[in-house]
Amino acid sequence: MTTDSSSGPGSSFNPAIAVPSRTYAAFRGASKDAFPADREAASELRKALDGMQVDEVIRENAAALVRAVDFLAQEHLQFADLGGGRPMQGLDQRKLPDLCQVAIQRQPERRWLLLDSDITVVIAGRALIGGAGVAVVQEDLRSPAEVVYAMDEHLDLGKRIVVILGAVLHFLTTEEVHALMSELWACLTSGSVVAATHLTSADADPAKVAAGVAAYQANHGIDIYPRTRDEITALADPFVIRDPGVVSTIEFKPDPVGPTPVPAPHFLMWLADRP
Ligand SMILES: C[S@@+](CC[C@H](N)C(=O)[O-])C[C@H]1O[C@@H](n2cnc3c(N)ncnc32)[C@H](O)[C@@H]1O
Repeated sequence: MTTDSSSGPGSSFNPAIAVPSRTYAAFRGASKDAFPADREAASELRKALDGMQVDEVIRENAAALVRAVDFLAQEHLQFADLGGGRPMQGLDQRKLPDLCQVAIQRQPERRWLLLDSDITVVIAGRALIGGAGVAVVQEDLRSPAEVVYAMDEHLDLGKRIVVILGAVLHFLTTEEVHALMSELWACLTSGSVVAATHLTSADADPAKVAAGVAAYQANHGIDIYPRTRDEITALADPFVIRDPGVVSTIEFKPDPVGPTPVPAPHFLMWLADRP
């Protein structure tokens, strides 16, 4: 077993090729964390998804994850942020805190694993948030046994864990998601929770969705899978989705003082329990 992976998006460094973590940073307005190829990829996606408010959709995804971690950290001490992306330290357009900082505000003793396939995420993560209860590991979610190995190495699998899958399952095929969920189900103890957000094709113009998928592939060389509400619901299996079920990110514990969300096909999300 190894805790370093050489596969998955961004697994080797090439600034000339856009990668999901840095294109995402460009959309969040943390442009110092993106190279020209990533900014160009973001620009091409904006064109393909014209009118779909992609920057705002992504910022709402990040804000919803902050609210979810703040909520879950009231009761939980251990977190595995899988496909966690690069810490932005409040230098994004919304000035959002990184998720592990949100957890530490609630739980000074929290343990945090940031796992991502992208070497730039891992290096930045180790430099910016590593140490003091925070481990950062390079691994591919399509190797679920290795993911569980990393969780076992850095967290206590005998105690409950919050697994965060923010805006990452849409980079996996349905079979790959099921393999991951099944491995998580087997390793997580009762009382654990999985929180996921996911790009959706629900309520979106199918022609624009197809154009976005093609633009994503052309600029990153990787596939992305927008899914319907039913398909996103089914990804939680065998975990038990909490009430109120699958919701839009802007509907999840909305922030009464935050910016008014723009109408758009926002990502869908669920919290699912390991009974
Ligand atoms: C769109 S970003 C989302 C970041 C963060 N989870 C959030 O929602 O704010 C997706 C992240 O998932 C990572 N990722 C994509 N495919 C992956 C895979 N197969 N294994 C591990 N990480 C992956 C990317 O490198 C990127 O950092």
